[in-house]
Amino acid sequence: MTAPDAIRGLLRADLRHLHPYGAPQLDVPVQLNTNENPYAPSQRLQRAIADAVAAVAGTLNRYPDRDATDLRKDLADYLGHGLTARQVWAANGSNEVIQQLLQAFGGPGRTALGFEPSYLMHPLISQVTGTGWTEGSRDAGYGLSTAPEQVRRHRPDVVFVTSPNNPTGTSVPLALVEEVHDAATGLVVVDEAYAEFARAGTPSALTLLPGRPRLVVCRTMSKAFAAAGTRLGYLAADPAVVDALLLVRLPYHLSTVTQAVARAALANRDEPLATVEALRRSRDDLVGWLRGHGLTVADSDANFILFGVFGDRDAVWQGLLDRGVLIRNTGPKGWLRVTVGTPAENDAFKQALTEECSL
Ligand SMILES: Cc1ncc(COP(=O)(O)O)c(C=O)c1O
Repeated sequence: MTAPDAIRGLLRADLRHLHPYGAPQLDVPVQLNTNENPYAPSQRLQRAIADAVAAVAGTLNRYPDRDATDLRKDLADYLGHGLTARQVWAANGSNEVIQQLLQAFGGPGRTALGFEPSYLMHPLISQVTGTGWTEGSRDAGYGLSTAPEQVRRHRPDVVFVTSPNNPTGTSVPLALVEEVHDAATGLVVVDEAYAEFARAGTPSALTLLPGRPRLVVCRTMSKAFAAAGTRLGYLAADPAVVDALLLVRLPYHLSTVTQAVARAALANRDEPLATVEALRRSRDDLVGWLRGHGLTVADSDANFILFGVFGDRDAVWQGLLDRGVLIRNTGPKGWLRVTVGTPAENDAFKQALTEECSL
């Protein structure tokens, strides 16, 4: 027996059919495939981050603050809504936050429900934590009008509502989040990774937290904060939810360096957040341009756009890549997703698409 066969035989049977997840990481000039903020930290911000790391470098013989107390306080201050550090939890990206939630509230014999198409890691993390995945559906325009009924029918232990949704960009009205919450008996996780990009006046599910201990709102510094490389995600919820996560988190999961960098980024948040308005405007321009060229485009409250519909989306994706523009081949059949970039990157995308599709 070869080593790979032997190891395969030892692997958990429910993982044997899986492939490692991940968007292609290709070295091409225009990378519009993972919904990052395209604006790199300024020299000033780079210095602030370097200073913050230098300030803790002499303490790295010691483990970090395993409760990340100061960082959680800073995150609570950023979120507002009267939240305190006791209601905030942080981990290495919101993916890890979601993993901890499923470790604590999902697991063998339990189920999680999400409304597809949505963020692919919700079912994948469910699977690797042994949580059964129930694939819920969306309306024709990607809305969630039937979500409360689906929740009542499946009675999941964890429900995911992604708003704005990835890959469609659709926001979920708060009244619907409330209905989903009221229909559920388990935890309701509102994944707001892209909340900062939503149109002005779009309220966050943070406003629903008081009096709803089963409601959790996940956020990340990977998107609007332009800090995807920092790996810092967080949630706001009842302190009892945070206490439950202490049971499953690995001790010292968040390094001293990560905590210092995240705090420096938060202290200087005006800079990355100032890019959000420009990205929103570019998004709306790009939506208009795509529609103007006869393509179908989902309404987006995020920093990416789902568009189509192509008979052979693989060929379009490859054609753009051949022209140095990497987008994401994901979403419903025939659709593609593009992240909003800098004006120069958006122009390169438009030019490549015009050539590839003879627009
Ligand atoms: C909806 C959604 N949630 C969570 C994440 C994970 O973000 P991170 O782990 O970088 O915080 C992403 C990343 O693309 C996402 O699209």
